[in-house]
Amino acid sequence: MENYKPNQNRSFSATPDSGLRKQIFLLKGSAGMGYDFKITKTANAKPKPDPNNLVFGTVSTDHMFEMSYSPEKGWHDGQIVPYAALQLDPATAVLHYAQLMFEGLKAYRSDDGRILLFRPDKNAERANISNDRICIPRIDEELMIAAIKAIVAVDQDWIPDAKDTSLYIRPFVIATDTYLGVRPSSNFKFYIILGPVGPYYKGGLSPTRILVEDNYVRAVSGGTGFAKVGGNYAASLISQQEALKKGYQQVLWLDGIERRYVEEIGTSNAFFKIDGEVLTPPLTGTILPGITRDSVIKLLQHWGEPVKEERFTIEDVYKAHEAGKLEEVFATGTAAVISPVGELCWKDKVILINDSKIGKTSQKLYDTLTGIQTGKIKGQFGWTVEV
Ligand code: COI
Repeated sequence: MENYKPNQNRSFSATPDSGLRKQIFLLKGSAGMGYDFKITKTANAKPKPDPNNLVFGTVSTDHMFEMSYSPEKGWHDGQIVPYAALQLDPATAVLHYAQLMFEGLKAYRSDDGRILLFRPDKNAERANISNDRICIPRIDEELMIAAIKAIVAVDQDWIPDAKDTSLYIRPFVIATDTYLGVRPSSNFKFYIILGPVGPYYKGGLSPTRILVEDNYVRAVSGGTGFAKVGGNYAASLISQQEALKKGYQQVLWLDGIERRYVEEIGTSNAFFKIDGEVLTPPLTGTILPGITRDSVIKLLQHWGEPVKEERFTIEDVYKAHEAGKLEEVFATGTAAVISPVGELCWKDKVILINDSKIGKTSQKLYDTLTGIQTGKIKGQFGWTVEV
């Protein structure tokens, strides 16, 4: 039975339930987009953290979105409920075989009080690309965006207003069959949780120190590198841990066959400015199609700056450095936006990039992207969507 009927007056009805506070919500603007989600408000609202001291990923808001999937009903019963721990049978499939996809995007409060999302359609599209790869049923993309808008609207007081802060949005799907045999689950849950965040790296925009990983690999052709699935991140942890022990914040991943071609940096896409031209590896299956990556390419093209999606090796990077042509290195992702790299270490050879200072292109991209995201800059591309 389909639960999501267009609702012309855009009202969200509260659950007819229990000791929790009951309320009817009329959400202004496009929040909810005609979908009728039940809302159960918490009776125990939490205190908000100091917006000037937010550490990424440590604070959750008061509510979350949840929706179920069964073969009989499809995706159904989307609702907003108080944020709470999940109760799972220890044999739940996701706990064993990682049938889990996730997304990440942010909401910003503009100076004139609007709530802005950045390219949520791209997250919804990518979520289904990830879903396809690990046998999770697709979620209607309009429904996904409506759910994101609805939960952000409910917890909008949690959007922090200090510089370089935002409300991080984490949609994810888990496989919920209780079965220990290896096969795709038949039942799933979709959640969206939120949390106010500051810069992803402690040092903010200070250039990072990156160790080139030549032992472990992140992705291979035919694998899951292009999908945002939990297993990719589990497999990367040992490498990050070893880099941290050596005093580096992240690793640079090389390709899984020749261990020469540059792929990604940590959980981000990688960009190198060499001799006036910006290079990033192409999306050939082992690279995550980052939304910030795509936005950076489009901005550079719009500014008339040379940018190429092509394969290049770590030797090319070191040769360019020797020739004085390696101008900038930066990583791009939702969490960090633009993260300049100040130092690379490959086989014990250390090179400094731009004297370990943020480069002009990285700074301009950061300022422009965050300007568009927060509504300070009117973008040409229609990338921001109002809640
Ligand atoms: C991103 O910045 O896009 C990420 O995926 C980082 C996240 C895993 C914390």
